[in-house]
Amino acid sequence: MMQFSERIARISVSSTAAVVQKADRLKASGVPVVDFGVGEPDFPTPENIKRAAVDALARDFTKYTPTGGIRELRQAIVERHGTDFGSKYEPEECLVTPGGKYAVFAAIVATINPGDEVILPVPYWVSYLDIVRYAGGTPVLVETREDDHFALRARAVEERVTPRTRMIIVNSPSNPAGAVVPPEEMEQLLALAARRGLWLISDECYCHFLYDGLQPFSLGASGNRENLIVVGSLSKTYAMTGWRLGFALGDRRLIAQMLKLQSHSTSNATSFAQAAAVEALRGPQDSVRIMLAEYRRRRDRIVEGLRAIPEVRCNMPQGAFYVYPNVSAYLGASGLADTVALADRLLDEAHVALVPGPAFGTHDHVRISYAASIEQIEEGLQRLKTFFARLLPAYAEA
Ligand SMILES: Cc1ncc(COP(=O)(O)O)c(C=O)c1O
Repeated sequence: MMQFSERIARISVSSTAAVVQKADRLKASGVPVVDFGVGEPDFPTPENIKRAAVDALARDFTKYTPTGGIRELRQAIVERHGTDFGSKYEPEECLVTPGGKYAVFAAIVATINPGDEVILPVPYWVSYLDIVRYAGGTPVLVETREDDHFALRARAVEERVTPRTRMIIVNSPSNPAGAVVPPEEMEQLLALAARRGLWLISDECYCHFLYDGLQPFSLGASGNRENLIVVGSLSKTYAMTGWRLGFALGDRRLIAQMLKLQSHSTSNATSFAQAAAVEALRGPQDSVRIMLAEYRRRRDRIVEGLRAIPEVRCNMPQGAFYVYPNVSAYLGASGLADTVALADRLLDEAHVALVPGPAFGTHDHVRISYAASIEQIEEGLQRLKTFFARLLPAYAEA
């Protein structure tokens, strides 16, 4: 019999992947799927960034780089973070990673021992849960409230801290709910972490995707940040998901530990992707603003459209590019046991792909990514309306 490690048995393939795979199969067979499943920008990577990579290739910048990233990129990262958020980091406090996900992984593996408790707000990004388990930690879930826009409150976290707690993970704006944690709550979380000697991971992958006049904010600008691990990514901000470029900012002793892990696993992020990242961070930032304006337009339209569907409740998310509507009215009565069954039937019958809430720890919701064209959004809304009307015939004429 094949033997696998106990460690690997604790995790499973990302549950979002199942929907994506099925949607891809349908698409490959010619079915016109409206894809609200994937969490990635539909925009191409801006031209200036692509050109920088091509230039790097032309000058044969194709070899190993220092494990933690080229100096110029580390410098560019801390400068951009300083400009955008008012933080002051040194390049030695920055680790360039192959994607933000690897920064989360390295941070957790470098700090969590078996039996340590890690506080995770619900709904959560599923990788946190699996990485914590992989490291032997115990996820401790803290509920947020839908009628509070799923915002994490420091008091709710404090109530769950025990002598075994080692870490709190916060993601604002969040995947999957687009929830934004108010800056004062963030400050309180950092103060709590300092008081109780806990690590605080602040995942800022969606930090530029803020609406309704909210100002970019990072705990990195706080005075006492010894306990803080900032995780950032170029994936979403610059539409660079495939380039695999992320980073961590933190105390240099922590960065050194994460670097050890990276040196024996992935090594450096791709050399010419690093050159492109320097251009992304130092070059013109207009593309970020243009994409943001477009996401805002799509958010407004999709929320309006979802709210027009009877019995669907939908918060107005304040950030990221996801909406997380509550579709519980359609469960049970219509023969659908849960949102997993609902998402499956929706894909089969209406050819709309979205991700059911259990992937993020809630029962009543589905995640819709509006990183899709406005035409796709209109078509998807129409299909959702028809699909839901069939489930609750009382509304068929609505
Ligand atoms: C909350 C969150 N953090 C981190 C990431 C990682 O992004 P990447 O590894 O592409 O930088 C994602 C990607 O979906 C995310 O949603």
